[in-house]
Amino acid sequence: MSSEALSNLLREDRRFPPPPELAEKANVTAAAYEQASADRIAFWEEQARRLHWDREWDTALDWSNAPFAKWFVGGRINAAYNCVDRHVLAGKGDKVAFYWEGEPGDTRTITYADLLRDVCKAANALTELGVKTGDRVAIYMPMIPETVVAMLACARIGAPHTVVFGGFSASALRDRIQDCDARIVIAADGGYRRGAPSPLKPQVDQALTECPNVRNVIVVRRTGQDIDWTDGRDLWWHDVVERQSDQHTPEFFDSEHPLYVMYTSGTTGKPKGILHTTGGYLTQVAWTHWAVFDLKPDTDIFWTAADIGWVTGHSYIVYGPLANCTTSVMYEGTPDTPHRGRWWEIVDKYKVTILYCAPTAIRTFMKWGEDIPAKFDLSSLRVLGSVGEPINPEAYVWYRTHIGGGRTPVVDTWWQTETGAILVSPLPGVTSGKPGAAMAPLPGISADVVDDSGNSVPNGSGGYLVLTEPWPSMLRTLWGDDQRYIDTYWSRFPGKYFAGDGAKRDEDGDIWLLGRVDDVMNVSGHRLSTTEIESALVSHPMVAEAAVVGATDPTTGQAVVAFVILRGDVDTEGVDIAQELRNHVAKEIGPIAKPRQILVVEELPKTRSGKIMRRLLRDVAENRELGDVTTLTDSSVMDLIRENLAKQP
Ligand code: WTA
Repeated sequence: MSSEALSNLLREDRRFPPPPELAEKANVTAAAYEQASADRIAFWEEQARRLHWDREWDTALDWSNAPFAKWFVGGRINAAYNCVDRHVLAGKGDKVAFYWEGEPGDTRTITYADLLRDVCKAANALTELGVKTGDRVAIYMPMIPETVVAMLACARIGAPHTVVFGGFSASALRDRIQDCDARIVIAADGGYRRGAPSPLKPQVDQALTECPNVRNVIVVRRTGQDIDWTDGRDLWWHDVVERQSDQHTPEFFDSEHPLYVMYTSGTTGKPKGILHTTGGYLTQVAWTHWAVFDLKPDTDIFWTAADIGWVTGHSYIVYGPLANCTTSVMYEGTPDTPHRGRWWEIVDKYKVTILYCAPTAIRTFMKWGEDIPAKFDLSSLRVLGSVGEPINPEAYVWYRTHIGGGRTPVVDTWWQTETGAILVSPLPGVTSGKPGAAMAPLPGISADVVDDSGNSVPNGSGGYLVLTEPWPSMLRTLWGDDQRYIDTYWSRFPGKYFAGDGAKRDEDGDIWLLGRVDDVMNVSGHRLSTTEIESALVSHPMVAEAAVVGATDPTTGQAVVAFVILRGDVDTEGVDIAQELRNHVAKEIGPIAKPRQILVVEELPKTRSGKIMRRLLRDVAENRELGDVTTLTDSSVMDLIRENLAKQP
């Protein structure tokens, strides 16, 4: 779209400079940008030395076989040793690694010494079951401490794990087990969600009817639900792990040894197995966790409110925080169980200092109202983070004001499963934050915004986000599919990593992420971002949440169709809602962005990771048969939307 229209919304002039006391003691200062740009490789080598290497690398980066990178070549390292043993050996065994809070209110406190004992036992159990270095282990668990233990036990013996989010179906689990040919599955009977036990074992049983190579299932008893049992195959965690020795000598692996495979959906049906390896990944998650959140390991209480089944959980619940000897909070359940203040109760109880979550959660809290967090003492918070989707300025400001008490920097962190760690983000002690902007590539990261031909765009223009140099925690390939790796990420702009995200460089040169390029619409030859229109809609006092799609239109190519949820507390008597909102969008962005249709709905279809499924909304907007709805949190949402629309004029 024309950049004038676009910048109306993006010309956000609120600025939030770092609090002086934070800036004064910040882990990272502006000098890091200069240091890293003077010698990017030396910068990453310095960060790699934060870790324990049994043997140091010979070459920091081997890019001779691009786009297949090798980092810290020749180095030998063990991820679990770095996350656990190292801290215990340094006398930090009594330090709390996790304050775990179960949804029903049960709690556990796990120290680094506890973690070491449990990881050693689990590693011994896996070895007893015949798991060897390089074998894959699938993990299908709720948010309980054993999930972390299972991952670290795999890492300790060099068996790459593939954690499958507990909300995925049996067939999704089957596809992932088959794709990486896992031989062992670690699961639980179930976990607690929305006040009730939610089963997991039945999905494992169903998946395994088509996975003949799986020898054993280790089952953690969490809920005590009745489950089916296959003798010889199924083993209780408390039988097979508890009796093991708590001593285990770790082996050190090549820096490029596979650490894990995490599946993520691509544009086609087949999920992509993103492969992460050890040395570079651990270096970058550890450094970014320390830098972006200004982590003070001795005093901070850190909480990533995400599921371990997603990359955010891998990098910022498990590997980054543990590598930094952090005390974290881990919560099993949903934010509204047993009441809508649960998160704030947890922040208050554990005096959480750093909170990291997704904009979709923030907008939900906005919808529930600011009087809920206001009932709790949130004054311990000092840094807030956002991840997973573009954060609209209203949500950013609400988060900063009502959760952060107007004091806390908000770091809007851009990254992907593929990137392994945060790449574009403000630094809380350095950057004056702009609501809605991810701002700038971190030190050591080379990113650019390019046009269709791959040329860098000038300030004030939009384009595609690309990465122009390899980074330590980048994916190494797609599991078993090097060609798809090349095609998906390295072919659109030769020599550059194509992230699939639209971006804009504003007049100051700062970066705004505009959503997936597949969500960018082209209306009468103007490029419009779904995110920007959603952001404009949400900035209207009547609107709680909005999702925008581009529907095929015979005259304009695509037309903007908006689905909105109204705020419960607003009186809409006598208001022409659609007209009011269309005018509002025209005012915020420009007449070109006016939605052709505005549809008021009760709910939006979301994936279990909280992403709005625009594809389904596009189907509705274009009157098509609905596509696959199996990854929806609640597939009846679509029926509701249809019914509801039938009643609208
Ligand atoms: C989106 C999650 C805007 C983006 C860590 C990316 C964001 C996709 C942001 C990756 C952000 C993530 N601002 N968009 N701060 N963070 N995204 O693999 O479209 O689940 O490509 O990784 O989420 O999602 P994934």
